[in-house]
Amino acid sequence: MGQIFCVANQKGGVGKTTTAISLASAIARSGRRTLLIDLDPQCNATSGLGIQPTRRHPLADDRDISESVVPAEGGNLTILPGCPGFSNIEMMAARDPELLARMTRRFLDGVAGYEAVLIDSPPSMGPMTRAALAWSTEVIMPIQCEFFAMEGLVRMIDVLRRVKQGGGGTLASAGIVLTMYDPQLELTREVERQIRESEVFGNYVYKTVIPWDVTVSEAPSHGKSIFEYAPRSRGARAYAELCMEVLEYV
Ligand SMILES: Nc1ncnc2c1ncn2[C@@H]1O[C@H](COP(=O)(O)OP(=O)(O)OP(=O)(O)O)[C@@H](O)[C@H]1O
Ligand SMILES: [Mg+2]
Repeated sequence: MGQIFCVANQKGGVGKTTTAISLASAIARSGRRTLLIDLDPQCNATSGLGIQPTRRHPLADDRDISESVVPAEGGNLTILPGCPGFSNIEMMAARDPELLARMTRRFLDGVAGYEAVLIDSPPSMGPMTRAALAWSTEVIMPIQCEFFAMEGLVRMIDVLRRVKQGGGGTLASAGIVLTMYDPQLELTREVERQIRESEVFGNYVYKTVIPWDVTVSEAPSHGKSIFEYAPRSRGARAYAELCMEVLEYV
C-alpha cells in the first residue's frame, strides 16, 4: 500500500483544499500514480481541477471506484470527484449503520493500485473526516498563522488521539504546514514562533511554509493546479518544496 495523506483541519478556509490539490499534483509530477479523493461536499478539490462533482459519491455508490476516477492534468494524477450530497453523511450513516464500514472496504479496494493517495476533507471533525483519518497513514494539517490557530491544533490532536485509541487504522505520522504565510505581519511571525517552539507541536511543523500568493488563489478558478497555472510562482515553488519534505527527500 502506498502513502495515504489526509489533509485535515476543522477550521474552515485554512488552505486544506489548496494543499491537497497542489501536493497531489506535485507528487504525481514526481512520477507516482496519485489519487486525490474529494470528501468535502463543497467539492472544491473537484471543481478546482476543472472536474464536475458527482450525483452520488463514488465511495457510497455500488460501482467500483475505478469506474468513477477521472484523469486530471493528463499525467499521473487521477481524482475521485466529490458529491454535494455528502453534506448529510451523518444522517446517511445514522439510517444505515453499515455505510461507513462499506465505504472503508471500497476505499481500501479502490486505492490499492496507487502509490500516493491524498484526501481533501471538510472543515469539521464529523464522521467522514474521522473515517478518513482512520484510513490514512499520515495527516497533514494546514494552518493559517492567526490568533486561534493553536487552539484549533489542540482540538485536532485530541481527535487524532481518539482515532488512534478507537483502533483507528494506520495513522503513523502528522505534519503541520503554515499556509498563506506573510512574513511582513507581526502576528504571522509570532504564531510561527509559538508553534515551532511548542513542546507539543514543534517537532511536527514542516520547514517549508506556503507564502500568501495571489496566483495560488487564482489557479482553481481556471480549473488548474498551481503547477499548470503558474509554474514559476512562489506558491508553486513552495508546494514543490513541501512535496519533497512530505516524501522525506530532505
Ligand atoms: N497560499 C495562498 N495564497 C493566497 N491565497 C490562498 C493560499 N492558499 C489558499 N488560498 C485561498 O484561500 C481560500 C481558502 O483556501 P482553501 O479553499 O484551500 O481552504 P480550505 O481549508 O480547503 O477551506 P474549507 O474549510 O472551506 O474547505 C481560497 O480562496 C484559496 O484560493
Ligand atoms: Mg476545502
